[in-house]
Amino acid sequence: MQWRRRHCCTHAAKLLYLLSLLGLLVFLVHQVWLPKLSGTPWWRGYPVVYGGTVLHTTKNKWNSSAAHAVWRFGNVPQQPFRAEATIGSSERHNGSFHRGDTSFENNLTANTSQSQEGAHNATLTHGPFPYIIDEPGKCAEDRPAPFLVLLIATEARQVEARNAIRQTWGNESVFPSLGFIRLFLLGKKEGEQGLLQQKMLESESRRHHDIIQQDFLDSYKNLTIKTLMGMNWVAMHCPKASYVMKTDSDMFVNTEYLIYKLLRPDLKPRKDYFTGNNMRGFAPNRNQNSKWYMPPELYPGDKYPTFCSGTGYVFSGDLAGKIYRTSLRVRRLHLEDVFVGICLAKLQIEPTPPPNGFLFNHWRVSYSSCKYSHLITSHGFHPNELLKYWHHLQSNKHNACISTFKERTGRAHPRRPNRDKQARLLQH
Ligand SMILES: *[C@@H]1O[C@H](CO)[C@@H](O)[C@H](O)[C@H]1NC(C)=O
Ligand SMILES: *[C@@H]1O[C@H](CO)[C@@H](O)[C@H](O)[C@H]1NC(C)=O
Ligand SMILES: *[C@@H]1O[C@H](CO)[C@@H](O)[C@H](O)[C@H]1NC(C)=O
Ligand SMILES: *[C@@H]1O[C@H](CO)[C@@H](O)[C@H](O)[C@H]1NC(C)=O
Ligand SMILES: *[C@@H]1O[C@H](CO)[C@@H](O)[C@H](O)[C@H]1NC(C)=O
Ligand SMILES: *[C@@H]1O[C@H](CO)[C@@H](O)[C@H](O)[C@H]1NC(C)=O
Repeated sequence: MQWRRRHCCTHAAKLLYLLSLLGLLVFLVHQVWLPKLSGTPWWRGYPVVYGGTVLHTTKNKWNSSAAHAVWRFGNVPQQPFRAEATIGSSERHNGSFHRGDTSFENNLTANTSQSQEGAHNATLTHGPFPYIIDEPGKCAEDRPAPFLVLLIATEARQVEARNAIRQTWGNESVFPSLGFIRLFLLGKKEGEQGLLQQKMLESESRRHHDIIQQDFLDSYKNLTIKTLMGMNWVAMHCPKASYVMKTDSDMFVNTEYLIYKLLRPDLKPRKDYFTGNNMRGFAPNRNQNSKWYMPPELYPGDKYPTFCSGTGYVFSGDLAGKIYRTSLRVRRLHLEDVFVGICLAKLQIEPTPPPNGFLFNHWRVSYSSCKYSHLITSHGFHPNELLKYWHHLQSNKHNACISTFKERTGRAHPRRPNRDKQARLLQH
């Protein structure tokens, strides 16, 4: 008896010790291991930063809980180092502008001709560019408002990418009971090739009914217009949607994780909610040769307000209309994600940081079923890769991390043919 009790106690102690080791390991994995695997330090992946410097990084290490709380109640004391910033007098008196991130306020109000439309009119119109292809009834179709609307920026020639998305993360019939809508956003191409592409696009649209297109030139610099078209569509035709995600056609999106782990249909839909890969304290790129160049005349401030990388961000349905209306009063910037960030700042809405830093990746995370079952976005996929990884993930869904472990141990002992075979079997 005595012996048994002692025996059991040492076992319990061992178990405790092991558990604490495991806890430490999990912590370390999150802190150290995953970012290295993803290949790129978080700040390098985003090219807005010129020369790798983030302005005011140390000064901007706010006590986030405090900042958030104060933010909610709209009374932030101005930070002393920001006191000289140009702040609109109403904001200064109200003291309600966010944490002194006000330099963008400087000179960004649109000229009157832009702000005429819709500014004092609750009726939304399609905006300055008419729809060429529209799906006005897609949301209303016989069901309650959808839980998630996917807005995917694409170009006419990317047929393969659209087809891959239809078969994988954008497949509307994977979550039939939820209400899940997929829409591709397009502008118009010029020239003879443009005409040909337009014909094909229209037949693609008749087949899938998942395309909206407005009459603006489809170019990188017009991405902001494209995003605003998506927000406009949601505001006009689907204002009761619980959530909206804007993403690109070369992305891997784990829609299942997004819906069931992050957004959660079992909870009351949030309001004024915006999340994604939060870019905080980023400086405008002043290198004229860069794709992300921002002329000082367009944006004189030395720092952008917090924005979420345009590769994938998610927001509550109510924000589509709010952002769209606000956008009419803000000078258009060609950097779509920065522009949306400015609109949010005008609305005094701070993007919510995601529950962990590995959910929204604007770089490519090397594939493993384990990692991909715990993230929401990964960037830079060829349509074929998308199909391959998606199907692998689906068939390993229920043991995503176990099979990864076995693949590893299999690889660690290449001389053992049996294990190798086992690992290969597990992969298929
Ligand atoms: C952050 O703010 C909270 C709430 O005001 C406070 O309780 C906490 O001590 C602060 N933490 C730090 C590190 O300043
Ligand atoms: C303070 O802000 C509110 C809304 O944010 C606005 O209606 C009000 O006019 C502002 N007050 C001043 C003094 O600017
Ligand atoms: C921007 O600011 C400059 C001087 O500060 C002013 O001359 C110009 O009219 C402003 N532009 C806009 C669109 O407000
Ligand atoms: C609002 O806009 C609609 C459509 O452009 C227009 O018909 C209506 O007269 C406008 N209402 C007001 C009050 O300006
Ligand atoms: C979407 O998923 C359903 C059910 O899993 C499947 O039957 C259908 O073929 C898929 N659609 C496409 C375009 O692959
Ligand atoms: C954006 O689209 C408009 C409307 O088609 C066009 O006039 C403009 O040149 C485009 N801008 C760029 C930079 O492509």
